[in-house]
Amino acid sequence: MTRKFLIRTFGCQMNEHDSERLAGLLVADGLEATDDLDEADVVVLNTCCIRENADNKLYGHLGHLRSLKAARPEMQIAVTGCLSQKDKGALRERADHIDVVVGTHNITRTPVLLRQAAIDGPITEILDAPDPVEMTDAAPALAAVREVPWAAWITIQTGCDNSCAYCIVPSVRGPEISRPLDDIVAEAELLASRGVVEVTLLGQNVNSYGRDITKRRPLFAELLEAVGSVEGIDRVRFTSPHPKDLRPETIESMATTDAVCNQLHLPLQSGSDAVLAAMRRGYTAGRYLERLAAARAAIDDLAVTTDIIVGFPGETEEDFEQTLAVAAEAEFDSAYTFIFSPRPGTRAAQDPATFIDPDVVADRFERLHLVVERSALVKHEARVGRIEQLLVEGPSKRDDTVTSGRTRQGKLVHFRSEDPVAVRPGAIVEATITRGAPHFLEGELRRVVAPSRTVRRLELRPA
Ligand code: 5AD
Ligand code: SF4
Repeated sequence: MTRKFLIRTFGCQMNEHDSERLAGLLVADGLEATDDLDEADVVVLNTCCIRENADNKLYGHLGHLRSLKAARPEMQIAVTGCLSQKDKGALRERADHIDVVVGTHNITRTPVLLRQAAIDGPITEILDAPDPVEMTDAAPALAAVREVPWAAWITIQTGCDNSCAYCIVPSVRGPEISRPLDDIVAEAELLASRGVVEVTLLGQNVNSYGRDITKRRPLFAELLEAVGSVEGIDRVRFTSPHPKDLRPETIESMATTDAVCNQLHLPLQSGSDAVLAAMRRGYTAGRYLERLAAARAAIDDLAVTTDIIVGFPGETEEDFEQTLAVAAEAEFDSAYTFIFSPRPGTRAAQDPATFIDPDVVADRFERLHLVVERSALVKHEARVGRIEQLLVEGPSKRDDTVTSGRTRQGKLVHFRSEDPVAVRPGAIVEATITRGAPHFLEGELRRVVAPSRTVRRLELRPA
């Protein structure tokens, strides 16, 4: 009988992409995906460690798996990704039922190590530095089992060279390494030939893309233009740029490359100059707002989202009020807000005396939430009456008479359609926006612009 695998992914889009690459390799190894833990022969937990609750979640899952494995000892458990990289051998000390521990630099080795562990017993393989083969080998990305056929992630860079005081990423993902521009474009072309219409370029700090390439250093702006001109790729998104590196060239490319979506995720982190300096972010609130204004002036109808941390060590009430003021002024379309979480080995975690009282942090978090929800609602209500182009994602999870699609700005729109065939996933349609809520829009279908390429292609395939 075919062995089955299940991958649980925690964390960011990098991890999601690593998981789909790993899924492709497991399929190539003869395994079959399942959603049912009870029938899985291989369970992979692809982990995150950016905040402490990510750690706790993982250990909770491992506890549950311990009893499953006691009942079915032949089941294999692999733990991959950022938390493995951080905890290394300590992971198996806390959970000795894990068969394979793999870090961030060698995740594609997991299938081989699983086979080896079945013979030799548990294996931990953590590399201290990125594996150049893993970095340059496009094969796993091309074999990736993607959740949807019309959209794909492309890694353009791994690691991070910044030293934000709160952040554990550089220590678990290593230094910045950019992939060659031609490789990225070739991957986009291949994806397009398979029916992908939307790509999201992934990197920890996409704007500094190319800085480590010495021969002829490409700019991120050039990469945007090159990917944007790939035939068949209609939407290009990217995440995330660092405000300090948001160059005029990038803004210009976004403005002039039709395929590049009018969406920018620009992490603010704090609105206080003192906190930004303590965070080692390399910009002031004023500079952030200037760059944002430049982007909005150049790029038509730009949607802007952000990340903000509340309760950074030493954050005063005054600092926090500056964050509220900057968030209000920036009029974000949405914001991911996080409570500061001390991460081992980071500068900000060193002095517990500077940590903010949790009740104070909870109160600030609520106040910030109100400000960002308000600006999101204002932004979304302002879209009522507009005609938007949507890439259809499929029936809504809650109500299958409702179809959902995403605008070029990246906003989710729910609409009703009498003709489910015309609005199959992957189709491009036009809708008039009829209502704005803080996290989504509602619309009325006007017309189908292009039927789904990928779904049609799948149906034409001989059985
Ligand atoms: N505590 C809280 N939030 C954090 N982030 C990164 N590190 C931490 C931390 N230690 C947030 C930042 C980043 C997002 C991905 O996660 O806002 O942009
Ligand atoms: Fe992604 Fe960072 Fe979490 Fe790793 S630690 S999964 S890079 S968010």
